[in-house]
Amino acid sequence: MLKTYNIKMPHAVYGGENAMESVTTILKNRKVNRVAMFTDKGIEESGLFSLPEEAVKAAGAHYYVLDELPPEPTYTAVQKLVDQFKASKADMIVACGGGSVMDAAKLASILVTDEYGVKELLDDPGRAQKCVPIILIPTTAGTGAEVTPNAIVAVPEKELKVGIVNENMIADYVILDARMIKNVPRKIAAATGVDALAHCIECFTSNKANPFSDLYALEGLDLILNNIMEACNNSEAMEAKNRMQIAAYYGGLAITASGTTAVHALSYPLGGKYHIPHGVSNAMLLAPVMGFNEPVCREKFAAVYDRCVHTQGNCQTAEEKSAYLLAWMENIVKELEIPTSLKEFGVPAEDLDGLVEAGMQVTRLLVNNMREVTPADARSLYEKII
Ligand SMILES: NC(=O)c1ccc[n+]([C@@H]2O[C@H](COP(=O)([O-])OP(=O)(O)OC[C@H]3O[C@@H](n4cnc5c(N)ncnc54)[C@H](O)[C@@H]3O)[C@@H](O)[C@H]2O)c1
Ligand SMILES: [Zn+2]
Repeated sequence: MLKTYNIKMPHAVYGGENAMESVTTILKNRKVNRVAMFTDKGIEESGLFSLPEEAVKAAGAHYYVLDELPPEPTYTAVQKLVDQFKASKADMIVACGGGSVMDAAKLASILVTDEYGVKELLDDPGRAQKCVPIILIPTTAGTGAEVTPNAIVAVPEKELKVGIVNENMIADYVILDARMIKNVPRKIAAATGVDALAHCIECFTSNKANPFSDLYALEGLDLILNNIMEACNNSEAMEAKNRMQIAAYYGGLAITASGTTAVHALSYPLGGKYHIPHGVSNAMLLAPVMGFNEPVCREKFAAVYDRCVHTQGNCQTAEEKSAYLLAWMENIVKELEIPTSLKEFGVPAEDLDGLVEAGMQVTRLLVNNMREVTPADARSLYEKII
């Protein structure tokens, strides 16, 4: 039987040199009067915010800055911002930041109503309609949140992060301006880069994988595996950084067409309960989960090897190729000095039961994993990182 699939994507993407100028053109063409600009303090402190701000000023629009957002926000923190946004009566959103900022702005774009808020969308995400058009400008490479119909919020009472999926949140415009990621601190570039890697390898090995997601996932893997080290280690490596920015976008497209699997599923409680950054928790689980999946994903891993190893590789069999890829991914996490143990975050071994219980709740993603994950499997995977 043929698989059914669909892929929905942003209306337009502007990339390359001085892509930010397109913001001015879009606002002028749409005769926008009032812009709500979403960002956070980290972006403002890095000086990055002035670029989109100048572009909005050049269009002659009034603008309001909404920047009271912590990283990896809870749904109540996002709701506060949404309320401020509603009061601004803006007719366009421009969001400049990492996944946290973009997700908050995406939720605001479908929440100009007093009938329901972010909390209600946790249970019934499909009810909201697009209210305000949105321009997304990612500053990490990255979550791919600039592409996806997903917004992820922490839900403290469940000790989880929860994904709200609604295709009305797909961006109208995306600006991939490489200047935005030029000076990302190495720690953030490393974790967010491995998040993009996880998106591509999970979507490629997902039960929901299909020809469209494979196209973007494989190209994303080629770009990330061969550029992430250079992009993180060399601040002048603009070619490598630019490739990471494009790969993160492809990772987002792969998520939209396919879906992530057990790495992201088991990582949600680590973000929700212990506030471990999303990229870091995925990096911790990447090698254990992919090792667990290897028996059923061997041919797929071998296909990734064939596509991404450009020098004369020595591997002949699927088994060898698969082992090579697993070691390659594990080495990237190690070389980039991303934490690989929950000990560094003070998580006690007694929390294991709670972690297993919370992780097993993320059925939305666990069903995508090609190898079934039982509670006992989840336990042994968490044991590897605790
Ligand atoms: N919607 C989706 O499809 C999707 C996919 C994956 C992850 N996410 C979510 O995205 C969030 C994580 O986003 P993230 O990893 O991009 O990090 P983030 O947005 O949480 O940012 C982390 C920190 O980095 C700073 N920062 C970001 N870009 C910077 C830059 N260029 N220079 C200096 N500092 C910079 C921010 O100010 C912040 O302090 C999580 O909530 C995660 O669950 C969403
Ligand atoms: Zn992710």
